[in-house]
Amino acid sequence: MENEPTRVVVVGQGYVGLPLAVRAVECGYDVVGLELDHDRVKQITASESFTDDISDAELAEVNATGRYRVTTDPNDCGVFQVALITVPTPLSEGIPDLSFIREAATVLAGCLRPGALVVLESTTYPGTTEEIVRPILEAGSGLRADLDFSLGFSPERIDPGRDRGPFWQTPKVISGVGAASLRAVEAFYRTIVEEVVSVSSTQVAEMTKLLENTFRHTNIALMNEIAMLASDLDVDVWEAIDAAATKPYGFMKFVPGPGVGGHCLPIDPSYLDWWVMRRLNVHLRFVNLANEINTGMPGYVVGRVFGALNAAGRAVRGARILLVGLAYKANTSDVRESASFAVAERLLRFGADVHACDPRVGEVDLDERVARVQLTREELLSADLVVILTDHDDFDYDLIADSARRVLDTRHRVHGRQVEYL
Ligand SMILES: NC(=O)c1ccc[n+]([C@@H]2O[C@H](COP(=O)([O-])OP(=O)(O)OC[C@H]3O[C@@H](n4cnc5c(N)ncnc54)[C@H](O)[C@@H]3O)[C@@H](O)[C@H]2O)c1
Repeated sequence: MENEPTRVVVVGQGYVGLPLAVRAVECGYDVVGLELDHDRVKQITASESFTDDISDAELAEVNATGRYRVTTDPNDCGVFQVALITVPTPLSEGIPDLSFIREAATVLAGCLRPGALVVLESTTYPGTTEEIVRPILEAGSGLRADLDFSLGFSPERIDPGRDRGPFWQTPKVISGVGAASLRAVEAFYRTIVEEVVSVSSTQVAEMTKLLENTFRHTNIALMNEIAMLASDLDVDVWEAIDAAATKPYGFMKFVPGPGVGGHCLPIDPSYLDWWVMRRLNVHLRFVNLANEINTGMPGYVVGRVFGALNAAGRAVRGARILLVGLAYKANTSDVRESASFAVAERLLRFGADVHACDPRVGEVDLDERVARVQLTREELLSADLVVILTDHDDFDYDLIADSARRVLDTRHRVHGRQVEYL
């Protein structure tokens, strides 16, 4: 790109799109954030960030530049030099739902001009950029990819809740549908991230993202299965994991937990399995096994709740149970697919009096029978059982150890004689 682009459209202003838009503004671009959700648009316009990756102050500064506009109206896209697609890629009845990508590509096709660049960032199965996005852009604009406009795929790698710095400090995998596209993709990302890693095709870049998340998903499942067995075998799996992690090579630390959540891990590996099935008519067995183990974890945790209460001569029905942590992951406010919800729902079904505390999580769609409470000494003292589900760093674990009568800790953060671990 010889003439540096000035106008960037980011389609989807969610956990991925908003930080991207903010970074682009900070790097000097004029940015239009296209977002379907009116509430989200209002929030962003009022400089109220919904993601831990962007502070309200940072958003206010970006809003004040006059170079960022968030809108629900596709006609506001205007003529752009760069468009980035960061829309959701959910599963619908177990099948990849690319309707959001199709919709975004259709909108962009209408404003596409020669020389522009379009990059898909949503996680998806290999072939999506070539087989879905490209034909929509070409048919809607009358232009040809890699000749008249550039097209690429670049997966997002943000790690919610972890203090690893902003996304642009993590190497970014980039790709193009041809050599000219790759050059354009590279020229753009070099202006907003510190390091780019080029791969030879959009399919390889799409596969890279699924590989990363499937690796994480299956390793968590492995630790979950070992944790369930270790508990019956009377071995401290947490101590063994920490000891194994001292090996400087050949071992990467993953830990068990009450189940996987968020937008990525419960979904992305199934995209890979679906794609392998479609192409080769075989299942990716690791993915299915990991799904089975990880989705079974909330049920296993509830079984352990039964056991812990039984040991104290109590039934689950009528027992007061305090769930600590509602977010799917430590130090985030994101509750998408959170295992805490699955645990709460099951306990309610068995007649438990469920209380839950998570100061990071605002009003969410949680069964109204769950009492939202603060983590106080009184609350801890009144609980028949405290279950640690999300280990935010700012929970007072000493207070829990001092005050709770019984603790089931799925994250290995509380220490004391009354504590049992996953
Ligand atoms: N959240 C993460 O940690 C993470 C990390 C890496 C990759 N991803 C991937 O990035 C993609 C986006 O994830 P997210 O977490 O940002 O999702 P999100 O739901 O937070 O944000 C997506 C936004 O796109 C909007 N949208 C949908 N269709 C639209 C359209 N046609 N026009 C305008 N706006 C539209 C939605 O209203 C939503 O606000 C997904 O493919 C996800 O798998 C997410």
